[in-house]
Amino acid sequence: MNLTQSFDLESWSALGLSEIEAALNQWIPVDAPANLSEPMKYAVLGGGKRLRSLLVLGAFDAGIHDQDLNERGWRREAAMRAACAIELIHAYSLVHDDMPCMDNDVLRRGKPTVHVQFGEATALLTGDTLQALAFEVLTPENTLIPADLQLKLCSLIARAAGHNGMAGGQAIDLASVGKRLNEAELSHMHNLKTGALLEASVIAGALCAGVSEHALEKLKIFGSALGLAFQVVDDILDVTADSAVLGKTAGKDANTDKPTYVSLMGLDAAKHKADVLLVQANQALFDSNLSNSDALVAIALKIVNRRY
Ligand code: IPE
Ligand code: IPE
Ligand code: MG
Ligand code: MG
Ligand code: MG
Repeated sequence: MNLTQSFDLESWSALGLSEIEAALNQWIPVDAPANLSEPMKYAVLGGGKRLRSLLVLGAFDAGIHDQDLNERGWRREAAMRAACAIELIHAYSLVHDDMPCMDNDVLRRGKPTVHVQFGEATALLTGDTLQALAFEVLTPENTLIPADLQLKLCSLIARAAGHNGMAGGQAIDLASVGKRLNEAELSHMHNLKTGALLEASVIAGALCAGVSEHALEKLKIFGSALGLAFQVVDDILDVTADSAVLGKTAGKDANTDKPTYVSLMGLDAAKHKADVLLVQANQALFDSNLSNSDALVAIALKIVNRRY
């Protein structure tokens, strides 16, 4: 915690995110068939905390410290592409998560959800296009980014998004409605549906920076603890925050009988769990021996202390 006091997360984030927003804006096609560009833009731009992007850039900054200056250009480009790809996958997951066949939500990022605004078939296809676009962004033509790094990033992000990651976790989520999961089952679901993509964000940044195997191993533990903390806090905010602040419908989990950390252990214990996970995450970060980890420390604190 002390480490963050001299670090200005707001200014650091503003700098990185202005680049991320511009890049995302540029990669959404303007001429997708049957006006699909409009819902794609709607789902991706103008909203979202961009915490996954910040984790990519934070891990990149932590690891790039000692890199050769002449590699910095392509390494940074790879990190920007990875951050945008993960935001695209995340945006797709939200579009599908909100659909009537899943959580049936009408509000997202303070706006009507994509299926409310554009219809269900369009929402389905918007998600599909965003997922595919993520892999286009990761595999540019005429680039200095080495093929093996592109491959590693594709593999990492595909696995985090797929049956053993986000989509698998979402399947468990839907199959668990009305059930009482124990903590091991609940953490497994949360690790997959949310943790996997957050962990991948950290690893992606680290791969782009070219960190050591030791640092990578410790960052995996950092990302995994933080990823679980993220969904524990999401469960808490569903109970404690207002829809207006959240930009999505509060109280949804209890109303739809979803197992959450709050329903499992109560509000105070859930908050304590998030704090314990933050301590674990910070310990792993410290153990990574990366010297420039101020941004990651500050983002981790923000993830656990956020109000929306
Ligand atoms: C919401 O994620 C969905 C979960 C995985 C809990 P975020 O809270 O990061 O959503 P945005 O991107 O800021 O809207
Ligand atoms: C969603 O979890 C996780 C995703 C993979 C999108 P939630 O269903 O709790 O996310 P919110 O609360 O709708 O953002
Ligand atoms: Mg859901
Ligand atoms: Mg939901
Ligand atoms: Mg939620």
